[in-house]
Amino acid sequence: MSEPKAENIVWHQGELAHAERCRLLNARGCTLWFTGLSGSGKSTIASALEAELVRRGVFAYRLDGDNVRHGLNANLGFSAGDREENIRRIGEVAKLFADAGVIAITSFISPYRADRAKVRALHEAAGLPFLEVFVNTPIEVCEARDPKGLYKKARAGEIKGFTGIDDPYEAPESPEIELLTAEKSVEASVARLLGSLADAGYLIGE
Ligand code: ADX
Repeated sequence: MSEPKAENIVWHQGELAHAERCRLLNARGCTLWFTGLSGSGKSTIASALEAELVRRGVFAYRLDGDNVRHGLNANLGFSAGDREENIRRIGEVAKLFADAGVIAITSFISPYRADRAKVRALHEAAGLPFLEVFVNTPIEVCEARDPKGLYKKARAGEIKGFTGIDDPYEAPESPEIELLTAEKSVEASVARLLGSLADAGYLIGE
């Protein structure tokens, strides 16, 4: 965890502990951290899951890589350092949502194992659940889908440092959940996630 740059700042403890907040709100916060290649299906599944949870009355909110890069992270590109900062900020934001009692669903490539490990550690230190969801779709399938035409551009040399082409993707070694989207429908992946959340006791607001 990075140390604050500012000096003379003192943590202010609120009146409500996390467990008490969740009890009063009838909610249970956690972070569902999606990771996978561009075009793997992260955003599609995350969006369908978010909608289904909210329809059921469960507080859930999605943080999406492309979207967050339009605002909070508009000053970041795709260098290793910028990707690290992208994930650090989103890790902190997801942690705040989880602490507030929301199911935070993040969909970022988050290509580096070390960065994801830091976000996990951040949650663990705060006693907040962190579930890594590996959207495991082979690069050939992502490239064939190419929903934004970016693989084509990367192959043509028009995008440099594209994840999976000329930039690394470090797959999770022991994700809590693995989704094989080349073989399963979006609905099946969402059902699998809902099942895991229900089993772990996160669907309280329903
Ligand atoms: S991350 O690597 O920092 O986690 P993030 O998920 O925020 O990436 O953004 C990835 C999205 O940005 C991709 O889905 C794609 O639409 C777009 N993109 C643009 N350039 C690149 C690139 N060089 N590598 C990967 N994705 C890129």
